[in-house]
Amino acid sequence: MPNDPGFLPRAGAARSTLRPDIAAAALKGLTSQPKTLPPSLFYDELGCHLFYEITKLPEYYLTRTETALMERIGAELLPPGMTHATLVEFGGSEETKARYLLDLPGRFDRYISVDVAETALTEMRKRLAQSHEWLEVVPVVANFMHPLRLPPIDGPRLGFFPGSTIGNLEPSAAAAFLASARQALEPSPWFLLGADLRKSPDILIPAYDDAAGVTAAFNRNLLVRLNREAAADFDVSAFRHRAVWNDGESRIEMHLESLRPQVVHLPGATIRFAAGETIHTENSYKHTPEALVSVAQSAGWRLHRRWTDDQGLFGVFLFGP
Ligand code: AVJ
Repeated sequence: MPNDPGFLPRAGAARSTLRPDIAAAALKGLTSQPKTLPPSLFYDELGCHLFYEITKLPEYYLTRTETALMERIGAELLPPGMTHATLVEFGGSEETKARYLLDLPGRFDRYISVDVAETALTEMRKRLAQSHEWLEVVPVVANFMHPLRLPPIDGPRLGFFPGSTIGNLEPSAAAAFLASARQALEPSPWFLLGADLRKSPDILIPAYDDAAGVTAAFNRNLLVRLNREAAADFDVSAFRHRAVWNDGESRIEMHLESLRPQVVHLPGATIRFAAGETIHTENSYKHTPEALVSVAQSAGWRLHRRWTDDQGLFGVFLFGP
């Protein structure tokens, strides 16, 4: 069939238990050309667990490099003279990195954490109630990518966006997010950003295609999840994990490659795959420090200070008003 769109409507389909907006985004991606799936779909319970396992892999240098940097720099990470402040973390359902800041004596009285994962936020609040009983913890259940409405904040405030989550965003979306965060943190906004840096694919590819196959399982879990929660019938073993360095776009791409021609059904659609066709599942942009600073500047931020580890793998950037 010429110009086969790759999908056909299907009657009498089974029901989906996936949140309707997520299911709609998944269906839209799978019926697009080229096929995509939204990276937000990675983080169900198993996906969060697999990501945690990724952070401990020898090839995945990001997490350990960032935490070592934060530990080394300590209170110098903060804007000059900032005390009794509010830390506002974006996408922070897990407070491991925030603790490096919250543990600095006298610096923070309040921790606002914005994330879509309500249960994870509740767990986080319980943990901090045990270890930091003096800290006011305010979970905000929201997608930080949508225009932000934070609860009113007294006193100084510091936005916090660690883990190179910014790498998942197209440069234009990254600029839009940084501008919206800046507005939400007014007046006198400050922002601490952790971002992975551009480097040789010889280091990047193994970080996203590890020898133990944990990243492959993390990627394939998208299909497992669509089978379980969206009544899809993917043959998960008929897709292989691929990590590709796209030099022009300066990003690692993750794909799931169909090993043979096949047809997959979802409620409302039949999806056709050619052999070798891929679903593009994630972008991880790797900026130079200069490129990252210029994205932030386009969003109204001024660079106050930046740090990298000795090998220049990872960057921490403090932006101010
Ligand atoms: C959580 C988005 C920072 O891009 O490195 C890890 C996710 N994907 N391995 C990243 C991820 C594959 C991770 N971020």
